[in-house]
Amino acid sequence: RRSVMMAPSILSADFARLAEEVESVTQAGANWIHVDVMDGQFVPNITIGPPVVASLRRVTDLPLDVHLMIANPDRYIEDFARAGADRITVHVEACPHLHRTIQSIRATGVKPGVALNPATPPEMVRWVLEDVELVLVMTVNPGFGGQAFLPRTVEKIPLLREWAGDRDDLCVEVDGGIDPSTAPKAVKAGADVLVAGSAVFGRADRKKALGDILEAIAH
Ligand code: DX5
Ligand code: ZN
Repeated sequence: RRSVMMAPSILSADFARLAEEVESVTQAGANWIHVDVMDGQFVPNITIGPPVVASLRRVTDLPLDVHLMIANPDRYIEDFARAGADRITVHVEACPHLHRTIQSIRATGVKPGVALNPATPPEMVRWVLEDVELVLVMTVNPGFGGQAFLPRTVEKIPLLREWAGDRDDLCVEVDGGIDPSTAPKAVKAGADVLVAGSAVFGRADRKKALGDILEAIAH
């Protein structure tokens, strides 16, 4: 089986101590840092923007996996790229010209990804799969940490893998409600990047938090 990457979401971290929080999950073995950007329009919550990505860039060498939950993401791609994002993922529901948006992410040198809300059919990304590095299958409705995993969402993953054919390098990421009990379902379906917010930052022992998820998917 492909190796699984852990991408803790700083949404559930202490924003007043972000550098320490990132350090703690780095020590615990995190592979990427997942950054949730929300605008109060595409989703009913507001979080952070390019200045925080720039600050994170100065304190970590881990890839910054920026998940844009914003309307008209095209307006901000250059800002996030300049701030130091390694990956930028946009929602298909927010992009009427998805192919063009993906090309403009790539033009900045950042790896493009596309995200699907739970109610969005995987067919929406079928014709751009060869243009992206990552598909993010939302396993909750985006907007908040700590929500319950929606099991049917992972049924999209085998279809995406089938359509991607021999593109073994395509990352399939899941995000929302991932913990030791849900992670195995996502991995069995074919996910290889696990985002976890509350299951990691909600626990004092970050090594144990990541370890429990990795152990659950090991068998
Ligand atoms: C949800 C965000 C997630 C969130 C996951 O809108 O995209 O990245 O932080 O949090 P948990 O793991 O607590 O569901
Ligand atoms: Zn996210």
